[in-house]
Amino acid sequence: MILKDQVAVVTGAGQGIGAATAKLFAQEGAAVFIPDWDEAAAQKTAQQIVKAGGKAKAMKCDVSKQAEAEAAMAAAVKEFGKLDILINNAGITRDVSALKMEAHQWEQVIAVNLSGVFYCARAAAAHMRERQYGRIASASSIGAFGNFGQANYSATKAGLIGLTRTLAIEWARYGITVNAVAPGFIETSMTAAMPEEAKEAVRKTIPVGRAGQPIDIARTYLFLSSPNAGFITGRTFVIDGGSALHGG
Ligand SMILES: NC(=O)c1ccc[n+]([C@@H]2O[C@H](COP(=O)([O-])OP(=O)(O)OC[C@H]3O[C@@H](n4cnc5c(N)ncnc54)[C@H](O)[C@@H]3O)[C@@H](O)[C@H]2O)c1
Repeated sequence: MILKDQVAVVTGAGQGIGAATAKLFAQEGAAVFIPDWDEAAAQKTAQQIVKAGGKAKAMKCDVSKQAEAEAAMAAAVKEFGKLDILINNAGITRDVSALKMEAHQWEQVIAVNLSGVFYCARAAAAHMRERQYGRIASASSIGAFGNFGQANYSATKAGLIGLTRTLAIEWARYGITVNAVAPGFIETSMTAAMPEEAKEAVRKTIPVGRAGQPIDIARTYLFLSSPNAGFITGRTFVIDGGSALHGG
């Protein structure tokens, strides 16, 4: 088991990539703490893990609120005794072209996708520093390279790359690695809203010949979260079946 006796927080693990990650981590021996603003969804994932013989606990939490992010990290430590891994997975889209985008659509996405990562990472690192060990990975996106209708989302996912590099430099001295994963098109409820023709068009541009599944990203988080990944930090891993290669 790659994560035997480790404690992981996976934000937004009520569904999609986060749920797949939480389940995989639990199968690999980790106790998993699940903060999600959709409490029912978080409970469902935790119950599925426990039913399968793993350890998990859910908590209602909006990561964009600093006090809630800090409370979630503290609750994970209280529940499971320590904190080894943080996966900053929670994220939202509010797609609309830039000239039509309203301030609240801009601000909501910045608050969840960027400030939420900062608050959670800082709160987690305070615990990790005490034990001189930690693994942090956050959800960027190939949307970071630019995408029509996603000025807000793209800015957060690109901003995360700079945040990741800086935290990696600052926290290496505490034994904490900080990386980002930039998924391509992954079939979850975030992408389910796209019209079928648009999805088919995207699938055709993916060199490996299929859309990504949540488990593809979960496996990347697992690799970056393992004790053996201690020499990997500050990097962003594009996991997209080769689709971003078309744009150079
Ligand atoms: N699906 C894709 O194709 C894709 C591609 C690139 C990047 N990503 C990124 O991966 C992450 C997960 O994507 P997904 O497709 O699984 O999304 P999803 O919408 O299926 O799930 C997101 C989860 O995050 C939770 N969440 C949202 N805002 C929250 C908040 N403020 N506080 C706590 N929980 C919150 C939701 O309740 C939900 O459970 C996101 O950060 C997303 O931007 C996804």
